[in-house]
Amino acid sequence: MTETPAWYYDEFKQIGTDYEYADEVRRYDERMHTLRDIPKETADTIALLGIGPESTLVEFGCGTGELAITAAGLCRKVHAVDISQVMIDYAHAKAETRGVNSVEFHRAGFLTYEHSDEPADIVVTQLALHHLPDFWKVVALGRIRDILKPGGRFFLRDVVFSFDLKNYRKALDAWIDTVKECCGSVNCRNHIRDEYSTTSWLMEAMLQHTGFDIISADYTGGVFAAYLCEKI
Ligand SMILES: C[S@@+](CC[C@H](N)C(=O)[O-])C[C@H]1O[C@@H](n2cnc3c(N)ncnc32)[C@H](O)[C@@H]1O
Repeated sequence: MTETPAWYYDEFKQIGTDYEYADEVRRYDERMHTLRDIPKETADTIALLGIGPESTLVEFGCGTGELAITAAGLCRKVHAVDISQVMIDYAHAKAETRGVNSVEFHRAGFLTYEHSDEPADIVVTQLALHHLPDFWKVVALGRIRDILKPGGRFFLRDVVFSFDLKNYRKALDAWIDTVKECCGSVNCRNHIRDEYSTTSWLMEAMLQHTGFDIISADYTGGVFAAYLCEKI
């Protein structure tokens, strides 16, 4: 095993919301079920990915497990990866309650997960990559490329800044209003200050640079971006 250099990013430190608190995780799950139409969102994402009975899927930042648990019923194997042990315990308990036992949970992250199964057909990550600064996003995307089969699909949904940066203060004020309309009481000021959402043009460049074809890039609504990509 190669030693981790002292300069390697510590992805286990919590930034923004602390997902190592059980109450925070429970509140997150409840909030997401109010703000998002989780069953529809999950069904739409699964349809987009073309999951089949032989597929191997890896999800980074699986959180409370909704996508991983639903996908598990449709494919050979799901590896659900998250840095938070509390998130994993919560998702694991949810999988058990739903009678799903084909999800393998891993306490690891974009920069530390070691994939020892067959190369993945699909990698998914939703609302998690913005926890890494841009340089480490590039490292993470390269690691994702390496665990995918040639032609494998990568779906990335995240909070991405797709507005014009020339007058960034005004644009961020408008963005905060948009977030309030779509997501209610989510603390977007903390998100801007403490987390690492990047710009749409940088995200596209990072994906292309690391060896992905961007099949579609969706910025509808101005808060989230969704990229469907294929490993070249
Ligand atoms: C906002 S939640 C999103 C959870 C879920 N994907 C969803 O769509 O609801 C972000 C998740 O990413 C996890 N996370 C943060 N940094 C991570 C990293 N470096 N690698 C993997 N997961 C990470 C957090 O623990 C948390 O569970």
